[in-house]
Amino acid sequence: MNRKYRKTVIAGNWKMNLLPSQVKPFADALKSACGKTKHCDIVICAPAVIVPAAVKHFKDSRIAVGAQDVSEHDSGAYTGEVSAAQLRDGGAKYVIIGHSECREYHGETDRAVNSKVKLTLDHDLTPIVCVGETLWQHEAGITLDLVRAQVKSALYGITAERARKMILAYEPIWAIGTGRTATPDQAQYVCSQMRAVLREMYDARTARAIPILYGGSMNPGNAAELLAQPDVDGGLIGGASLDAGKFISIIQAANQ
Ligand code: 13P
Repeated sequence: MNRKYRKTVIAGNWKMNLLPSQVKPFADALKSACGKTKHCDIVICAPAVIVPAAVKHFKDSRIAVGAQDVSEHDSGAYTGEVSAAQLRDGGAKYVIIGHSECREYHGETDRAVNSKVKLTLDHDLTPIVCVGETLWQHEAGITLDLVRAQVKSALYGITAERARKMILAYEPIWAIGTGRTATPDQAQYVCSQMRAVLREMYDARTARAIPILYGGSMNPGNAAELLAQPDVDGGLIGGASLDAGKFISIIQAANQ
């Protein structure tokens, strides 16, 4: 973390879990524990159908609500899709874009990621753009090539001023839901290289300003060490964000 230049963000990704009726008890626990945690922004990214319940129950708290995906189209005949304008009007403030599960299961391409980022910024939502390599790519030693290309294509055609409103997340696919976490050194190295890409594309000020999160089996046991890295500005947390106690512990680690 480097609080001098950028905010720390702890974001939960609930994925396809929980019911609208289960949001209130979770929100109550989180709200009462988060009153004193001033040093990080807290986000819960819920399934689109749960966003309204989350917005209602996190109202008047420090916890913002996000979605997990958004259409690459502005509006119109796209059955089953949810637009950036609809999410914004429904009270969401953030959207995860380019998650490896969307890339894999929905065929989301780098080009679609770029369109979604632009639309999301147009509608005053903060994109949390995920990049990361598979286990095979990790073992083949091509992580940096891949991650650099993903960052460049996600931000293609976006001005520095707009880029400064974004959040990036490094999520090695081999660490997602596997219990196998990148070491703090690995996470720091890839996040620092992502920041180097931002410096090349824009300038030092922009590169310094954009929070880069780590995601992949982050939990109360490893959060403090990962968050202590200078280029790891927070976490994008899946499994551990479904347990209010564990999520609160990670938030507390980000407040040290
Ligand atoms: P886990 O924390 O369950 O590994 O998931 C990480 C993730 O995919 C967050 O977007």
